[in-house]
Amino acid sequence: MQKITDIIAREAADSRGRPTLSVTVVAGEGTGTFDVPSGASTGSLEACELRDVGGGVSRAIDNVNSLIKREIVGMDLHDQSKIDAKIIALDGTVNKSKLGGNATIGVSIALAKAAAKAENIEPFEYLRQLASIKPSRKVPYLYLNYINGGKHAKSPIAFQEHMLVPDTESVTEALEMAKILEKSLYEIVAKKYGAEVAAEVGDEGGYVLPNGTYETPFELSEQAINESGFGGKCFIAADIAASSFFENGSYVMQGKSYSADELREIYVSLTKKFPILSIEDPFFEESFEDFAKLQKQTDVRIVGDDLTVTNKSLLTRAIGMGSIRSVIIKPNQIGTLSETLDTMHEARLRDVDCIVSHRSGETNDDFIADLAFAFGCFGLKTGSLRKPERVIKYKRLEKISLMGE
Ligand code: PGA
Ligand code: ZN
Repeated sequence: MQKITDIIAREAADSRGRPTLSVTVVAGEGTGTFDVPSGASTGSLEACELRDVGGGVSRAIDNVNSLIKREIVGMDLHDQSKIDAKIIALDGTVNKSKLGGNATIGVSIALAKAAAKAENIEPFEYLRQLASIKPSRKVPYLYLNYINGGKHAKSPIAFQEHMLVPDTESVTEALEMAKILEKSLYEIVAKKYGAEVAAEVGDEGGYVLPNGTYETPFELSEQAINESGFGGKCFIAADIAASSFFENGSYVMQGKSYSADELREIYVSLTKKFPILSIEDPFFEESFEDFAKLQKQTDVRIVGDDLTVTNKSLLTRAIGMGSIRSVIIKPNQIGTLSETLDTMHEARLRDVDCIVSHRSGETNDDFIADLAFAFGCFGLKTGSLRKPERVIKYKRLEKISLMGE
């Protein structure tokens, strides 16, 4: 037994410059710190991110330094599930609104990192001690963000993220391809819109297009793939985040209203035109049936994010209704590591693939790369190569994927 001796939360800044928590768990030689990320297009059923009236996180910090610390200090560092259960009970709400999901996930992941450190093993190795989850792939696909829209950029393009996914099992090769694709897309965007537009960076590091239709990012992505010589070797993926343009029962893009059926037809035609691997959140977050209708009509994998919010019961519902073939995993959506692992375990039991994801407001923490690698997840979705807090995670994945080779 190794007793936890201290837990300290401090304020840090995320990639948007907003305050967030940096939480450290101390147990003798074992010290682990987790810097908590923050979403913008959040699902309404996500764990509550506790913020003060002015947007600060002092209440969440106080909850760690008083309430949580009082309960957890003295417990065994290796009792991850017991400690998470204690935090869940201490909170006592359905969405962690008392302590704050940002406070609880900070402690929960810092704890796992401290335990790995105490055992002198890597976080991904420690994660494998905590859960047994059926792998989807040897190494996750890299979901690299290239064009931002929706809530992540000031752009008329309604779809939130357009990603390129190199089709390889080598992270090194994927990153090499990503650099070439990046250069090619830069040239395409600069030529079409000018160098100033090409220099603009969305929250997750993608280009921000000043005009165009929903099809434009797909066209430019395909052009970049072809001009890089990667035709047939690179997929396109999209995160629609459709809740962000759902208004009074219909979907509003550039002043035009679309029904769910019309939007579904748009997706189907896009999948016929472009090499699309997956479409995330194609409809409003409560539209389990519309997801299912689309999934029935296409072989492209439909992905739940705002639909499922890393929550096991919502995932079970989505699977039961045939809504999705893949699920986004964001630990801060549910608020503890144990619940995250539980959801991932359930997904893989039912043959749904997991894509581990960053948030649009990120920190320099690289834990999610370990999480994606530990269980052979289908994908790691963590932005573009134009933002350092995103690159850190891809680099970590590359490093651990090469260990033992
Ligand atoms: P968020 O966006 O972090 O702003 O929620 C990421 C996503 O929707 O996948
Ligand atoms: Zn999403």
